[in-house]
Amino acid sequence: DMRKANGSGLKGRHILITAGPTHEPIDPVRYIANRSSGKQGFAIAAAAARAGARVTLVAGPVHLPTPPGVDRVDVETARQMMTAVEAALPADAAIMVAAVADWRTDAAAGQKLKKDGSGKPAPLTLVENPDILATLGRHAQRPALLVGFAAETEKLAEHAQAKLARKGADWIVANDVSGDVMGGDDNSVHIITAQGVESWDHLPKDAVAARLIEKVAHALASRSD
Ligand code: CTP
Ligand code: CA
Repeated sequence: DMRKANGSGLKGRHILITAGPTHEPIDPVRYIANRSSGKQGFAIAAAAARAGARVTLVAGPVHLPTPPGVDRVDVETARQMMTAVEAALPADAAIMVAAVADWRTDAAAGQKLKKDGSGKPAPLTLVENPDILATLGRHAQRPALLVGFAAETEKLAEHAQAKLARKGADWIVANDVSGDVMGGDDNSVHIITAQGVESWDHLPKDAVAARLIEKVAHALASRSD
């Protein structure tokens, strides 16, 4: 419609987005991380800003420029991301694209871990990080539309369906990462909602972003005012 054509489909809305990996320190020089580049989340933030939204982008450590018109909050760890996300509420929609590290070490060492000469590796005790999406799913200020991403290498729809329910999200964008998606420029996604599964063609990440933001604008418009 004309509102979308004019790039104002999200005017007056606040959209909260997470992107990138998190880094969980082991000691001052080492960390646990993953291969997320942040490209898909940054493309979604850019598309939301182009659609006229106020956009808060909570970004893990990535090498990407801030899209025009986006408020960016840089964080390093999952716990910092959780704090920044809660501080940014309320939001009309939250799109959790970050590849949050599932585990961190129970306590990061204050000094660089050293080999002790025994040939045995230093023991690392891992503990689970907070689940940011699930926390928003049961939050007093839950966004009206809550969208998660799920990177899967197998049983894509099945795993994504389970996540939708477990996390209290409205949609899960399931991402087939069995190929070279992480760090690449294209994405192959399936949108899982209570209504079923919608599969999109293999598309550039910018096109996935534009299409997802159009769907978000449409959903928010039909839910209120
Ligand atoms: N997520 C999150 N906080 C976490 C882990 C995941 O907010 N600590 C969000 C991601 O940003 C994504 C969704 O949850 O939107 C699904 O992430 P995923 O890693 O696929 O799900 P997990 O519950 O961590 O399950 P898995 O064991 O498959 O990694
Ligand atoms: Ca995970």
